[in-house]
Amino acid sequence: MQRHECVVILDFGGQYTQLIARRVRENHVYSQVVHYTQPISVIEELKPKGIILSGGPASVLEEGAPRVDEKLFTLGVPVLGICYGMQLMAYMLGGKVEPAAQREYGRIPVNMLSSSALLSSVAGESQCWMSHTYQVKQLPDGFVSGARSKNCANAEMENTAKALYGVQFHPEVTHTEKGGTILKTFLSDICGCAGDWSMAAYAESAVEAICNEVGDGTVLLGLSGGVDSSVAAALIYKAIGDRLTCVFVDHGFLRKGEADEVREVFTKTFPVRLIAADASDFFLSHLEGVSDPETKRKSIGRDFIEVFKKEALKLGKLDHFAQGTIYPDVIESGSVAGSSVIKSHHNVGGLPKELGFTSLIEPLRMLFKDEVRALGEELGLPSSLVWRQPFPGPGLAIRIIGDITRDKLTIVRDSDAILREEIAAAGLDRSINQYFTVLTGIRSVGVMGDERTYDYTVAIRAVTTDDFMTADWARIPYDLLAKISARIVNEVGHINRVCLDITTKPPASIEWE
Ligand code: XMP
Repeated sequence: MQRHECVVILDFGGQYTQLIARRVRENHVYSQVVHYTQPISVIEELKPKGIILSGGPASVLEEGAPRVDEKLFTLGVPVLGICYGMQLMAYMLGGKVEPAAQREYGRIPVNMLSSSALLSSVAGESQCWMSHTYQVKQLPDGFVSGARSKNCANAEMENTAKALYGVQFHPEVTHTEKGGTILKTFLSDICGCAGDWSMAAYAESAVEAICNEVGDGTVLLGLSGGVDSSVAAALIYKAIGDRLTCVFVDHGFLRKGEADEVREVFTKTFPVRLIAADASDFFLSHLEGVSDPETKRKSIGRDFIEVFKKEALKLGKLDHFAQGTIYPDVIESGSVAGSSVIKSHHNVGGLPKELGFTSLIEPLRMLFKDEVRALGEELGLPSSLVWRQPFPGPGLAIRIIGDITRDKLTIVRDSDAILREEIAAAGLDRSINQYFTVLTGIRSVGVMGDERTYDYTVAIRAVTTDDFMTADWARIPYDLLAKISARIVNEVGHINRVCLDITTKPPASIEWE
């Protein structure tokens, strides 16, 4: 679906692969990550202007180490191997890779030669990020070395005639002082990329691709109220207007004001055909007395499918099914190229088959979260929606410890709204990645006025994280905490105690259930 110039990043399992993809896009060049096990035809079909081989944890000398089809080096497309990628290129083209006498890790001074096509613009010594135990000891025929460090004679290698390049260091990491310039040289000067990719361009080509795929057909999309499905809806709406039908299942566990905002945006700014099903009674009825977290999740998942399916069936046959899968979901589900796995926490697994859709449309499949947000802004979605923090599918139901009642939902929703309001007012809403309140199962004794109270304890959970796999607890200023606590006990009924969760992940998780 991309008609923009594209650079393929072949992934060997390196920890910086996504970062390479980002850096390429920062140069306004569209990038696509492809797992090394994919057949070379997948790469050829993308008609890349350049190929980058990522780093990876393996050693090329190991049996079963990742390899590529040799044809990759004869496609006539410039290739840049990074760390493992360089070693693999050297090894496969007849060079020698050996364990380094001294392992290099961290910031290492590297001397770049002015004779190097890749490095001449950064000639001289600069700091580079290294992380390797093996190195290229003997270059393949036709290659010359363009950089050296104290312990690595071939910190760079190149064969300009064949447009093959390798660097032992990591140009994508900010610790490599001149890394940005080196990648820019590769993309602009060596691959000849014009750098005309932008969010506006992406939106334009994505709209065109959706039009081509859908033809004069119809599309169904499940709106969750989150960023991804909202951006996908806005984009598809741009392409096919009211031939897009969105089903928004309100399970009753959304945050304060969110259901209304979704209804407002998708009836006014993007007037799709919106089916908003208020199913809160239905969901709640199955949760009476349920306190086990997984049972709650399963019940909500089951009900979600049921309600969604019921609404979808009422609509008659629609041709395509769309969802807001984004790149990290693709990675998570282990399906990098061309597969159509439905991510499980979308709660709609299994639906498309049953409802007889002809195809699955995922216009955000190649974007990172912040790029999805940029696209949302580009399309004109309100920033309150675009910058919405992540929110679990089961919603507030897993932020009430123990069984769920309407009263408890009100407590957690109202205390959460106060927390969000104060964090935003303090300007911390973009630096704290996720923050919410939890209604703990604890009741404790307090005094209010002259009265003894025996009421609930609310916990504040606020974390900073890059990937939500690990997280630190956010250092919210004491004065702000004092204000939040006072407002919660004063404004929300049945709360007489507020606690702060100061646990990292691991060992705790971000959510309490
Ligand atoms: P944990 O609690 O596992 O959360 O540290 C990591 C991130 O995942 C979100 N989360 C969920 N998202 N369905 C979802 O769609 C779920 O059941 C679920 N549980 C946790 C959580 O909010 C955090 O961002």
